[in-house]
Amino acid sequence: MTRIISPSLLSADFGNLKADCEMINSSEAEWLHIDVMDGSFVPNISFGFPVMEALKMHCTKPLDVHLMIVHPEKYIKRFAEAGAGIITFHYETVDNPLEVIEMIKAEGVKVGITINPDVPVSVLEPFVDKVDLVLLMTVFAGYGGQKFIEESYSRIAELRKMIDQKNAHCVIEVDGGVNINNARKLFDTGVNVLVAGSAVFKAENPTKMIHDMLNT
Ligand code: DX5
Ligand code: ZN
Repeated sequence: MTRIISPSLLSADFGNLKADCEMINSSEAEWLHIDVMDGSFVPNISFGFPVMEALKMHCTKPLDVHLMIVHPEKYIKRFAEAGAGIITFHYETVDNPLEVIEMIKAEGVKVGITINPDVPVSVLEPFVDKVDLVLLMTVFAGYGGQKFIEESYSRIAELRKMIDQKNAHCVIEVDGGVNINNARKLFDTGVNVLVAGSAVFKAENPTKMIHDMLNT
């Protein structure tokens, strides 16, 4: 089963992003997770296209873009042009998820769909065989450094069963409160991709932490 660490840039040193990109390049992290927040779908505002374009110049790994914005369909082309390798949008923010999935695919970019912890996993059923990735939020989207919601394990197991029953090929990603203490249980429950912000960037040795989370 695929195991990937996607460190979330939200917890990086914004005064020295080039150094953090170089750390990611030399690490076992396969992707770099990019949290885009608009102050509307979520209360917080993070960063947008110019920062992503600068990251793209220094980072050799695919940018795993997590859109926490209303009307994501308006910006798909620009995120693709800014260098996204994967674009994940929130189910809660669109009227017609299938249309948005097709728009992202048309840009030649991988597509992901995500839900907050208060949205039933069952809403994802029509989409699991049409996307490359399903992201289950394990905290409410908006901020780094929150506590992992323990009820997430049963949601992950439900999603894993749904994907396997439909013989779908998407990977499961989780995001929020992931660290060295829950990494193994998450992989064992059927997760493929761990997003980790504070656990990686606040670690004394981030490259070692990435290695340890992969091999716990
Ligand atoms: C939260 C973001 C996360 C965040 C995770 O809304 O989607 O990607 O950076 O941060 P940690 O790993 O610190 O919980
Ligand atoms: Zn995220």
